[in-house]
Amino acid sequence: MVTKRGDGRLPKLAALVLIGLAAAVGTALAPDAGMASSKGPFGGFTGAPGEDTCRHCHDSFPLNVPGGLLTVSGFPEVYVPGETYAVTVILASDSGEVWGFEATVLSDKRKRAGRLIAVDRDTTKVVPGVFLTTREYVVQKKAGSYDGQRGSATWTFNWKAPKKDKGPLTIYVAGNVGNDNEQKTGDFIYAVQVTSQPAGDMSRER
Ligand code: HEC
Repeated sequence: MVTKRGDGRLPKLAALVLIGLAAAVGTALAPDAGMASSKGPFGGFTGAPGEDTCRHCHDSFPLNVPGGLLTVSGFPEVYVPGETYAVTVILASDSGEVWGFEATVLSDKRKRAGRLIAVDRDTTKVVPGVFLTTREYVVQKKAGSYDGQRGSATWTFNWKAPKKDKGPLTIYVAGNVGNDNEQKTGDFIYAVQVTSQPAGDMSRER
């Protein structure tokens, strides 16, 4: 199922925190790369509740404009607690020349649900949220931005469902179809969400 989402807005305070954080990271950790989003965006921009999308910075175009499509497969319609699932994100576009994505899984209480695991560590990594630090995110690395590739980009990672039934769980994914100008301008942002129901008695009170 593919659902299109509206774009959220970060509160002003969060934006200020981000500017401070970016400055700190830029000078302390990545002096050469600055904000280095192509090497892997900060956790917290999937469009999940309480989050903006990548459009927080890549704001040249509206969200989900025709010409591109972000799809998720392998995130189960029904999850078995403790089970591990291989999830694949495909970002397709007629215009992309560099690519990026970010995904997180939350319960309907907006809490991290299960664990995300980077299977291909050359192309993906797992990072914590910069604002909501108990959330975790799988994002592309530099090699996973597939610089110069046309048509589409694909990333696969694992999601281990929580040990217990946590009710319906949703994966929130954002993708960036980049124009390869090494700036935040001219890029198309897409967002999608898919919900998984717990196996077993679904009528039970939680
Ligand atoms: C805090 C601001 C900010 C946010 C939020 C952000 N980016 Fe970026 N991004 C940048 C900047 C600045 C650049 C240019 C420098 C670079 O390439 O790292 C960039 C560049 C990129 C590029 C290369 C674009 C090109 O055309 O060369 C990709 C891919 C990318 N970001 C992916 C993402 C994804 C995916 C997200 C959301 C999950 C995201 N970014 C969110 C600031 C941001």
